[in-house]
Amino acid sequence: MLLAIGLVVVVIGTVLFNFLSPSFTPLASNWGQIDFTLNLTIAMTGIVFVVINLLMAYFVLRYRQQPGKKAAFEPENKKLELWLIGVTAIGVVVLLAPGLFVYSEFVNTPKDALVVEAVAQQWQWSFRLPGQDGEFGKTSISLINFQNPFGIDPEDPNGQDDVLVPGNEIHLPLNRPVKVLLRSKDVLHDFYVPEFRVKMDAIPGAISSLWFTPTKAGTYELACAEYCGLGHHTMRGVVVVEAQQTFQDWVAAQAIFSEEVAEAGTNTGQDPVVVLGQQLAQTKGCLGCHTTDGTPSVGPSWKGLFGKQESLSDGTTVAVDEAYLAESIADPSAKVVENFPPAMPPYTLNEEDLEAIIAYIKSLTGND
Ligand code: CUA
Repeated sequence: MLLAIGLVVVVIGTVLFNFLSPSFTPLASNWGQIDFTLNLTIAMTGIVFVVINLLMAYFVLRYRQQPGKKAAFEPENKKLELWLIGVTAIGVVVLLAPGLFVYSEFVNTPKDALVVEAVAQQWQWSFRLPGQDGEFGKTSISLINFQNPFGIDPEDPNGQDDVLVPGNEIHLPLNRPVKVLLRSKDVLHDFYVPEFRVKMDAIPGAISSLWFTPTKAGTYELACAEYCGLGHHTMRGVVVVEAQQTFQDWVAAQAIFSEEVAEAGTNTGQDPVVVLGQQLAQTKGCLGCHTTDGTPSVGPSWKGLFGKQESLSDGTTVAVDEAYLAESIADPSAKVVENFPPAMPPYTLNEEDLEAIIAYIKSLTGND
C-alpha cells in the first residue's frame, strides 16, 4: 500500500514539477522545430513515465499477497510480446523521425547566409566578419600574435578587408540567416545562445559551424556551453540582433585587418604603450579572468590594483608595484592573493609586452 502511494506521489510530483518549473527561454530564431522535437520528447517520455508508474501502483495493489491466492507461471505470451514490440517500435520512430528532418535542415545552411566567425579561447570570444568581398582571409595558428590575434594570413588578399571584433560582443542583422564558423585557440568550447536553440562545439584545429535566423531584435547572452577550465563560467558574450541598417553602421565602425596593425594605438589619443597593454590583455586572455571594472572574477580585478596593499594566502601583505606584477605574471604561484585559487598559468613575455601590460594595469588606477 505504502509503495503504491509512493509511486502515485512521485507521478504527481513529476507532473507538477514539469508544469510549474520555468520553461525554455522565449524563442528568438527560426528553430521552432527544435522546440517541437523537445516538447515531443518530453510529452512522449512523460506519458510513458506516468502510465508505467500508475500501472505499477495498480499492480502492487491488485496482485498483493493474499491468503489462498497463488501466482501462476506463464513462460511466454507471444501475443503480448508482439504488442509490446510494436508499440515500442512506433514510439521510438515517433521520437526519432522528427529529429532527422530537423537535422537535415540544420546541416544545410541557406545559400544567402551571412557568414561570421567566432573564435573561442580561455576565456573569451572574439569575432570576424568577411568584409566587402564576402570572403574570409586564410588563417593559421602559427600567425597568431598580439597584432594578429586571429592569425590571418597577411599575404591573402581576401583577408585584407576582414572585419575584426576583438571584444565579446557581436551584432547580427534581423531576419537574415547567419552561419557561424567556430574556431578555438586552445581547448573545446561551445557556442550557445539559448534563445537561438542551436549550439555547437568549437574544436581546436577544426572549423565547425551552425546556422540560425534571428527573428527578434534584442540583446542575448552567448554562453560557453562546454566546460573549458576554471574560467568557464566567465566566458560569456553578447549577441545584439538589430535592423539591417543599424547592423551595417556597427560593422562600418569596426576595425579592418589591414588597418588594424597600422593604426594600433595612434588614433585614440592614449599612450600607445597602454593601448598595446590593453590589446595584449585581450589577446593573451588576461581579461578572461581579470576584470577592469572592479568586480572580482577568477582572479583579482585590475581596477585600482596598482599601488594597493594586497593580502596574500599565507597571511602576509604585499604592495602591488611593478616588481610584484612582473613576478605574478611570470610566476603566478609565488604570491597568491587571499581568497583566489592558484589558477593562473605562468606567462613568459618579452620586456616590451610586460612593460605594456603593467602600464595598462597602472592606467586602470589613474596614478602613474
Ligand atoms: Cu569556454 Cu567553457
